[in-house]
Amino acid sequence: MALTVSKTPTGSEYKVKDISQAVFGRLEIELAEVEMPGLMSCRTEFGPSQPFKGARITGSLHMTVQTAVLIETLTTLGAEVRWCSCNIFSTQDHAAAAIARDSAGVKAEEEYEKSGKLPDVNGNENEEYRTVLRIIKDGLLVDPTRYRRIKERLVGVSEETTTGVKRLYQMQANGSLLFPAINVNDSVTKKKFDNLYGCRHSLPDGLKRATDVIIAGKIAVVCGYGDVGKGCAAALKRAGARVIVTEIDPICALQALMDGTPVLTLEDVVSEADIFLTTTGNKSIIMVHHMKQMKNNAIVCNIGHFDNEIDMHGLETYPGVKRITVKPQTDRWVFPETNNGIIVLAEGRLINLGCATGHPSFVMSCSFTNQVFAQLELWKERGTGKYEKKVYVLPKHLDEKVAALHLGKLGAKLTKLTPAQAAYISVPVEGPYKPPQYRY
Ligand code: NAD
Ligand code: ADE
Repeated sequence: MALTVSKTPTGSEYKVKDISQAVFGRLEIELAEVEMPGLMSCRTEFGPSQPFKGARITGSLHMTVQTAVLIETLTTLGAEVRWCSCNIFSTQDHAAAAIARDSAGVKAEEEYEKSGKLPDVNGNENEEYRTVLRIIKDGLLVDPTRYRRIKERLVGVSEETTTGVKRLYQMQANGSLLFPAINVNDSVTKKKFDNLYGCRHSLPDGLKRATDVIIAGKIAVVCGYGDVGKGCAAALKRAGARVIVTEIDPICALQALMDGTPVLTLEDVVSEADIFLTTTGNKSIIMVHHMKQMKNNAIVCNIGHFDNEIDMHGLETYPGVKRITVKPQTDRWVFPETNNGIIVLAEGRLINLGCATGHPSFVMSCSFTNQVFAQLELWKERGTGKYEKKVYVLPKHLDEKVAALHLGKLGAKLTKLTPAQAAYISVPVEGPYKPPQYRY
C-alpha cells in the first residue's frame, strides 16, 4: 500500500476514503457532542487557557464519530493532532473525512525511528501491526529522511485498552518501556463503563446488523467473564438467549454462577450452541477443530482485542474449506466433510466495531474524558520528573470528576455528605492512590 496523502486548502495532510463525506460526518459529530458531556465540559473548562499549546498529539484508535469528538476536544485545548485508525473495519469514513477536512491529519505514519533497517512486514505480528509496518516501509522508500527521532520529544502515552495496558506493564517489567504511560483502562469510569455497559449495548447491535438470527431461545457461549464478558452475557440474556460462560479464573467463574449462568468448557458445549463469542483478550480460544464440530450456521464472533481469539488462520488454511461472503463482515465457511457451515463475523475482529458502529457516544465520553485528563497531566508535568518510565493510573478524584461530569445529563442529583458523615466513614489512605482490583 503506497502512502499517498492529500492536502486540505490549509495544508493539512490526510488519507481518507472519501473527503466529500465530511458534510455527513460533521452532522453526526454535532449529534454526538450533545451526548458527550465530559468532553464538552473539558472544552469549556480548559479551552480558554489553551493547555495543549505546543503539544503534538498522535493517536491510534478506532476513527469513529466519538473519536472525532475526542480529537476536536484536544484541538480545542490547543493541541496539533494526527490520527490513525487502529482497525481496518472500524473506520467511519464520514467521521474521518470531517476530521481530515476540519481538524487533524488522519493517516498512519511517523513512528519508526530511523535505524537504516527497513521493517520486516512479513513477521508473525497481527495484521494491523503489519499494515503500519508496511506503511512505514513504503514511506521510508519514498523519503528515507522523513522519520525524525521522536524519542527525545516523546512526553508520554495514554493507553485505552485492557490488552494494551497489559503490554505496557509487561514492558515496564522487562525494562523496555521508553516513556511514562497512563493506564486509562483501569479508571473505574472506563473499565466498568465502556467495557461493561458499552459492550452490553454494542454487541447485540453488531449481531443484529450482521445476521437475521433471533437471539431469543438460542444457546450462546461467552468465553471470558471479565467486564466485557459480563456486559455481553447480560445483553444476550436480556435478548432471551440461554447463556453459558467459559472461564479460567475461579473468581470470575463463581461470579457467573452467582449471576445464574452455567460455567462449562468449550468442549462441553461446542456441538450444541448457536452463538459463540470471545471476550478474553487472550489468544487461541476458538480453534478450527472446535469450529468443525459446531452446528450448521453457528455464529462465531469476537469482541475482545484481536482476531487471534478465533483461529482465523486455521480456518482459512483448512483443506477444502469454502468461504462464502454473504456481505462485508459476514462470511459463511463450509467444511468439506460435513457440508456444514459456520458464520464468522467481522473476520474474527471486533464484532461491535466491524459489524456495527461501536459503543454509543455517552459511554465513550466517559472513556475519552479520562484520555483528556491523562494527556493534560502528561503534558503539564513534562520535564518535571513526576512521571518516570512506568505505568500510572489517574488519581481517584479525577475518576470521580469524570463520573460527576456525566450525572447531570441523566438528571441525577447527588446527595452531599454532612461533615459528621464524612468523618464517620473516612479512612486514612497512605502513599499514592492505588486502585483496587477492578477486574471483578
Ligand atoms: P478482563 O481481564 O476483565 O476479562 C477477560 C476475562 O477473560 C478474564 O476474566 C479472564 O480470566 C478470561 N480469560 C482469559 N483467558 C481465557 C480463556 N482461555 N478462556 C476463558 N476465559 C479466559 O478484560 P476485559 O476488560 O473484559 O476486556 C477483554 C478484552 O476486550 C480485552 O482484549 C479488551 O481490550 C477488549 N475490549 C474490547 C472492547 C470493544 O469495544 N470491542 C471494549 C473494551 C475492551
Ligand atoms: N471502542 C468501542 N466503541 C468505540 C467507539 N464508538 N469509538 C471509538 N472506540 C470505541
